[in-house]
Amino acid sequence: MQIIYYGHGSVVIKTSQANILVDPFYPNGVPAFDFKIDYILLTHGHQDHINDIDNIPNGKEATLVSNYEVTSYFVEKGYNGIHMNHGGDKDFAFGNVKLVNAVHSSSFPDGSYAGNPVGFVITTDNRCVYIAGDTALTMDMKLIPLMCQKLDLAILPIGNTFTMGYKDAYLASTFVECQRVLGCHFDTFPPIEIDKEAAKSYFASKGSELILLDIGNSLEL
Ligand code: NI
Ligand code: MN
Repeated sequence: MQIIYYGHGSVVIKTSQANILVDPFYPNGVPAFDFKIDYILLTHGHQDHINDIDNIPNGKEATLVSNYEVTSYFVEKGYNGIHMNHGGDKDFAFGNVKLVNAVHSSSFPDGSYAGNPVGFVITTDNRCVYIAGDTALTMDMKLIPLMCQKLDLAILPIGNTFTMGYKDAYLASTFVECQRVLGCHFDTFPPIEIDKEAAKSYFASKGSELILLDIGNSLEL
């Protein structure tokens, strides 16, 4: 399985059965996706997570998965949506998606209510990936290893200011019992610029790995 980082909170997870896009927001331009997007997962309604949804090629043919309010908002705009909410999980052709808690806020750019923000645990191709979404460090993360198979990767925000910073993200990695972390939600705007070397050294000093990918680069699981 391949995970491509598109900057900020956006990744694509390419599994054997489906390509899953998370949180489309591309301030430097929409990537040239040379593959079909089968699923769109949205963590919450903030503009830096949904702004480019209408720019995804054939996005309305994909299946959108989010909480009840976010899914309803986009179903009204013509998307195919699956309504879920915190604590629920569902089997799809590619595997299972579980919605887990995130401590953050959530509203749409027009100010309307977007429900509560979520994280995702995706189990597919015999691997398990946690996408935290925008969140603070929270004790709820300790539930994840109790509920799901051993994580192979945790995708955690590290930019501070609007989410946890990298030191809390390290603690989050211990809560979810995953020593391999892909950092996201950093360097997009001045308030979330970080010292990337310091962040990576901090994880390394604790025996964990913080992976920071350039936009468009990927890792294999
Ligand atoms: Ni947000
Ligand atoms: Mn955000």
